[in-house]
Amino acid sequence: MKIAVIGSGGREHALAWKFAQSRGWDNVFTLPGNGGIPNSFPINIMDFDAVKAFCIQHDISMIFVGPEQPLAAGMVDYFRKTEIKIFGPTQKAAQLEASKVFAKYFMQKYEVSTARFKTFQSITEAKKYANTLDGFCVIKFDGLAAGKGVFVCGNLSELAAAFDEILVTYGENVSLIVEQRLEGDEISIIGFTDGKSVKLLQASQDHKQLLEGDKGPNTGGMGAFSPIEGIDPVLMKKIHLRIIKPTLQGISEEQMDYKGMIYFGIMVENGIPYLLEYNARFGDPETEVLLPALKTDLVTIVDACLNGNLSDLELEFETGFFADVVLVSRGYPQKYAKGLPISGLENVNKDILIFHAGTKKINDVLLTDGGRVLNIVGHGATLDESLQKVYNQIDKIHFEGMNYRKDIGRRKNENF
Ligand code: AMP
Ligand code: GLY
Repeated sequence: MKIAVIGSGGREHALAWKFAQSRGWDNVFTLPGNGGIPNSFPINIMDFDAVKAFCIQHDISMIFVGPEQPLAAGMVDYFRKTEIKIFGPTQKAAQLEASKVFAKYFMQKYEVSTARFKTFQSITEAKKYANTLDGFCVIKFDGLAAGKGVFVCGNLSELAAAFDEILVTYGENVSLIVEQRLEGDEISIIGFTDGKSVKLLQASQDHKQLLEGDKGPNTGGMGAFSPIEGIDPVLMKKIHLRIIKPTLQGISEEQMDYKGMIYFGIMVENGIPYLLEYNARFGDPETEVLLPALKTDLVTIVDACLNGNLSDLELEFETGFFADVVLVSRGYPQKYAKGLPISGLENVNKDILIFHAGTKKINDVLLTDGGRVLNIVGHGATLDESLQKVYNQIDKIHFEGMNYRKDIGRRKNENF
């Protein structure tokens, strides 16, 4: 069986690598992929006719969708009408990620534990309400914004700056959420679903801010590790009862056709889990630590989801810890240069996994091609060992302006 992975980042490299483990690289295609993923083909993934033609030409019978944009645009609905199997939520189900207002009303209706909120259709109205909270709140733009539509404010001047930016980016008449600001530790709980049950991967933690000590602007993710020590069975039980179970009930009652990944972005405040967001896909960089830890064959899991018998399957995991440090371009997440030569990858120890994110190959020369460039992943018996392995190798890799955080996995989680 031949498989197409849709997307171009580190997540998709990890997905293609995992499929290739059991099916061989000859049977795994990535669209459009990048400079480090074997069998990458520069197809426009939003052009579903073009993707279909490619699949037919290459005898591909299964598609795994990595990113949110094609899911929100109905890629799954499109391929459901063809002979080609596709893994991912339908457009209706993907709204749980694509519209934050839709997601919040869903959470409210099915009593999923989440921060209190109000919705507004204009900046003026939202501002009036947010001012009554003295600016201690979170403002969220309704649509997909690649992590740039959320403004966590602590006072009135931060609030004013957030609204100024929202006005410039989206205009006055915009759908917004003003939400209670929580203060706690974040975890990513990601699982497979067939719409009736969920099988979770191990818990992971992302590092969203650019700078050490969780300072600076939000990025797509500067590193991740898994599993998380300190998440005990009591907390996991609360997550099941207050978040996962009511979500599954909602998916069933709303008759969403959901066979794909479900990602619960959770904040734990004083031992209580709150759902900040759903994503309808794998997280990035979480995938780069979760898939190396997964022993079960990915095709078997995907088939179980598509056939609706996921509850019969038990997932198996490697022992120990996985850590990922992301090497980024100078200037990211704002403006950065592309096309700079990358060297030294061949010197990195063989027990390290390298998942390419923003790279391209021209005449066999590897060049930077994005803000997040490379994911360096290590495995160890302890979290410290996995981190040491990664940090010991990074000096061997070079591109001009290469930046990375030196404190991945070092955060003190005090809420669980
Ligand atoms: P979201 O896309 O909704 O997950 O928000 C992006 C980031 O904003 C989250 O990962 C949190 O760091 C932060 N955030 C979102 N909602 C809240 C909240 N209610 N309280 C505190 N921080 C939040
Ligand atoms: N790592 C966060 C995300 O993929 O949305």
